[in-house]
Amino acid sequence: MSANFSSRWAGKWAVVTGASAGIGLALAEQLAAGGARLVLTARRTDRLQKLAADLSAKHGIKVEVFAADLVRPEAPAEILAFTTGKGIEVELLVNNAGFGAFGYVHEISESRMLEMIQVNCSAVVQLTRLYVPAMVKRGHGDVLIVASVAGFQAVPFNSAYAATKAFDLIFAEGIAEELREFGVRVCALCPGTTTTEFQEVAQQPDRVFRSAETAEKVARVGLEGLAQGKSCVISGTKNGLMVASERLAPRRFIARMAGRMMRPTES
Ligand SMILES: NC(=O)c1ccc[n+]([C@@H]2O[C@H](COP(=O)([O-])OP(=O)(O)OC[C@H]3O[C@@H](n4cnc5c(N)ncnc54)[C@H](OP(=O)(O)O)[C@@H]3O)[C@@H](O)[C@H]2O)c1
Repeated sequence: MSANFSSRWAGKWAVVTGASAGIGLALAEQLAAGGARLVLTARRTDRLQKLAADLSAKHGIKVEVFAADLVRPEAPAEILAFTTGKGIEVELLVNNAGFGAFGYVHEISESRMLEMIQVNCSAVVQLTRLYVPAMVKRGHGDVLIVASVAGFQAVPFNSAYAATKAFDLIFAEGIAEELREFGVRVCALCPGTTTTEFQEVAQQPDRVFRSAETAEKVARVGLEGLAQGKSCVISGTKNGLMVASERLAPRRFIARMAGRMMRPTES
């Protein structure tokens, strides 16, 4: 991360959801390198504990770990209770945890889709609603919401997932404008395909991930965008051009093209 951005959260506390893998882990590493103190959360505590030990040894920062399954609607309040109990004032909330579910809508289980909506959308709203009041009160604070380029369009065979990311994107852009006058910055980070555990979790075909970016690159773009006061940032020039060109074409055409690319029967 460039020197301009590395010091923005130095000595301040950041909560990072989904810090056990992929983009969340890369965000945690870059924040730690900039001197931020971290609260890492996800379900896999072993990974979080190891990351916490590594980052505190390498960067001399304080790191706390709190295991939480965001499928549980109570989890966001438990995360807040943990940080409040430790007297932690959260300057940066990173809503990163999320997952996809690939396939025909009638073949993905209803429970899986509802869990996805809970983790990708409801937990984002809950955590934001829980942490933003203190930020507004003190007149500063930052929120990064990891959306996706999938949030700009329909993505057949990833329909519910793309809809959750559209929610994240529109929610982030809306509250960025609302909270600006209170000194609170909000940015939607929109990655394209990124090499993480996402593909395996979503059971998505390899071909979609051929031109994937690294999690480190995506994390840097997100933190830079937030530090620069952007309300939305797309990682990767190609992804940015793709989103821009989609605005010019009929929506049904875009959905059809995406459907051709994503169709499960092709390999
Ligand atoms: N990879 C991509 O191509 C891509 C593209 C655009 C946007 N994104 C977005 O980037 C974000 C991070 O995904 P990633 O690519 O880094 O995937 P990843 O490597 O699979 O990481 C997902 C993270 O979310 C956590 N998580 C998943 N379910 C959870 C739950 N029920 N409760 C708490 N934490 C949970 C996981 O931790 P545990 O399993 O330990 O709980 C993990 O730390 C997601 O919001 C995703 O939608 C990814």
